[in-house]
Amino acid sequence: MTKHNAPLVNYRVLLALTAGLVASFGGVARSSVATTQAPLRPITVNLQDKAALRNGALYTLHMCVACHSLQGVRYSSLRKILRMSRTRYEKVIGTNGSHYHDTITSTMPSGVIDAFVKILPPDLTVIARRRSPAWLYTYLTSFYVDPSRPSGVNNTVRYNVAMPDVFAPMQGLQKPVMVAGLRFGSPAQVAVGVQPLTQGSMSRAQFDRTARDIVDFLYAVGHPHEQERARLGPWILGLFLALSVLTYLIYRLYWRRVITSEERWWRVGK
Ligand code: HEC
Repeated sequence: MTKHNAPLVNYRVLLALTAGLVASFGGVARSSVATTQAPLRPITVNLQDKAALRNGALYTLHMCVACHSLQGVRYSSLRKILRMSRTRYEKVIGTNGSHYHDTITSTMPSGVIDAFVKILPPDLTVIARRRSPAWLYTYLTSFYVDPSRPSGVNNTVRYNVAMPDVFAPMQGLQKPVMVAGLRFGSPAQVAVGVQPLTQGSMSRAQFDRTARDIVDFLYAVGHPHEQERARLGPWILGLFLALSVLTYLIYRLYWRRVITSEERWWRVGK
């Protein structure tokens, strides 16, 4: 036996690394808990509601595509999501001057975005997959006046947001409901809700309906195959069930013909 039989893995180093990793995960978990969260507004997404999807499409294409892109879909696939004929689609929804088979890109030149918005608005198909419908609905309805921000507004679920309040003319302005809470672990006044400040062109119920339609549409665009999956799901499960029954019957048929060793002995022995 040699004296140089040091283990390949230095267990002390390994232990220290594991402890460090566990501690840092704990830190991440703790810091994410230590921010007072505004409650999310509940919403039920209904992909069967064609009128809501079309209304949401109109608002999104006319209000949001000025800054945001929707590169996960093409105008042509939008027609299928909205279940419209091509002529009707081109008449009612349109393609913002793009080709019918183009993906939906922002209509604002990037120079203008750099000059006025500073932060590149994220692609909404990506956002629609990453954020829950309840989060999106709360986000769209929870802009409030905050004079300390360059755009003059802030948001309860997206603190210090760079997006301007594009809904101000429709929804009116809102003021925050502040509570003493924690922000990233430090005591702070946190906005947990909003209250109306001025009246917009729509009533509160009308505006909430519009915001829900936009979320419905964004969800449909972010999950383009969901309707097809829901339609095909029961058929696929039925197919598996039928195959299971058939396989079981074949199994019974085969084993009826197989003679076990005990039976063979009995038959040969007699
Ligand atoms: C004037 C340009 C502009 C318009 C118009 C606009 N946005 Fe935005 N939006 C932004 C910018 C910039 C951000 C990035 C905010 C940030 O990172 O702080 C953003 C962020 C967002 C986010 C949050 C992304 C996230 O997860 O943090 C959502 C959702 C969103 N926009 C939806 C919309 C919808 C829906 C519309 C149309 C009703 C719209 N936006 C219209 C500029 C715009």
